[in-house]
Amino acid sequence: FSYPLPANEPVLQYAPGSPEKAALKKALAELKKKEIDIPMYIGGKAVKTGKKVAIRPPHEISHTLGYFHAGEEKHVVQAIDAALKAKAAWADMSWENRAHIFLKAADLLATKYRYQMNGTTMLGQSKNAFQAEIDSACELIDFLRFNVHYLSEIYKQQPVSAPGMHNRMEWRPLEGFVLAVTPFNFTAIGGNLPTSAAMCGNVVIWKPANTQIYSAQMFMRILKEAGLPDGVINLVYVDGPTIGKVCFAHRDFAGVHFTGSTGVFNHMWKVIGENIPKYRTYPRIVGETGGKDFVLAHKSANPDAVVTALARGAFEFQGQKCSAASRAYLPSNIAEEVKTKLVAALKSMKMGTVEDFSNFINAVIDEKAFNSITRYIDNAKKDKKATIIAGGNYSKKEGYFIEPTVIEAKDPKYTTMCEEIFGPVLTIYTYDADRFEEVLTLVDNTSPYALTGAILSQDRAAVELATNKLRNAAGNFYINDKPTGAVVGQQPFGGARASGTNDKAGSQLNLYRWLSARTIKETF
Ligand code: ALA
Repeated sequence: FSYPLPANEPVLQYAPGSPEKAALKKALAELKKKEIDIPMYIGGKAVKTGKKVAIRPPHEISHTLGYFHAGEEKHVVQAIDAALKAKAAWADMSWENRAHIFLKAADLLATKYRYQMNGTTMLGQSKNAFQAEIDSACELIDFLRFNVHYLSEIYKQQPVSAPGMHNRMEWRPLEGFVLAVTPFNFTAIGGNLPTSAAMCGNVVIWKPANTQIYSAQMFMRILKEAGLPDGVINLVYVDGPTIGKVCFAHRDFAGVHFTGSTGVFNHMWKVIGENIPKYRTYPRIVGETGGKDFVLAHKSANPDAVVTALARGAFEFQGQKCSAASRAYLPSNIAEEVKTKLVAALKSMKMGTVEDFSNFINAVIDEKAFNSITRYIDNAKKDKKATIIAGGNYSKKEGYFIEPTVIEAKDPKYTTMCEEIFGPVLTIYTYDADRFEEVLTLVDNTSPYALTGAILSQDRAAVELATNKLRNAAGNFYINDKPTGAVVGQQPFGGARASGTNDKAGSQLNLYRWLSARTIKETF
């Protein structure tokens, strides 16, 4: 059965006075009223260990949203056992029945649980209403619906037959279990990594970042309500090294679906490599990792368009998108105008809690991130090679607040032009407007990453040149737009080099990684 290409879930705007704004406010108030006790989900059962860890909004650290029950090694073992037990029935279930579980989950998200889901993302991850809406509502719904469509297209792909024979392809799931390790910055990625593998008939151990557990458990409950059989996805809160120790040493380890840092991914790859002889099959290693995403303006660029690309591209969700603009190359003819207007735009951005919907900037995710980001800012304050032209202040009194900060670098290879910061810090370098070709080489060589990038130009020849010369500098390349906000089905997302395996989230390319085809020839 083939599922037609869906339409993208419409984005609600939460304008003042709108019914959706009232509904979301109500959901936020209800979530804040009760301290929720969050179990792990192993084999469909809620598991409480008594080792409770508090969850607090990054923008209001005096408030407790609830507690999650942390697990240990034995829970990972139990989760793998439960997954393997569920495997045969799940893999044998008809595709239509599997698909309908995920389509129902998408509908529950779009209707019954939309505000609660967005509410958990807003409070747990400090995302404003609009950023939560495009993430935990629209993108997550789209991932589920588009993946059902894409997978049904894959299942239809069959080889040709010749006289006297019939050939067919059986699109089997992988043999064993898949580990999904998911980040804090997108609830949608948290939902997509386990479900895309599960949809293909795989069983999954899902380990979310601790800082995303508040929204992850909400999505897990929705999957259960949609009818996901026990043990197909097992949600565990166990530290990374312990998860790795158990999963990567297991005979039935079949693959990892990862989004997170390049360092962690490199480590996983090494451990998996060392353990190869232990496995039944070669595991699939799929990862989306870091970025040092660029915005390159040509001398023909519209300065206002550059300002918008930078203000939104670098500072939405406090710059904590792997796709966020974090290094900008401005041509000398418009650099002053862009800088002046950007500084003004940032001054008008309000910073504070998510409950005041007029705040564009909220808090960064936790104290570790706060300390790491502010260290870059402090170093820039002291360094002669850099000048802070906007922001630079921060406080962790009430929450982890850092002003949107712009550093102007005199050296195009200054630290903050090269290293991933993962926070509201943009570094700008001004180049000689007549030396565009040289700056293309610089953009290509400055960072090991290749996730996203943007060229702003009104000159078609410059667009052509940049598109060609920067062919390998970004997996998602934007012309006259910001480098963030990929939409499922419209801009399949992912990058190569140190940014990952480029298996484009929300596309057939990704789903193929969770399938292991069997070719069957019958003669007659
Ligand atoms: N898919 C996210 C974006 O494009 C990371 O911003």
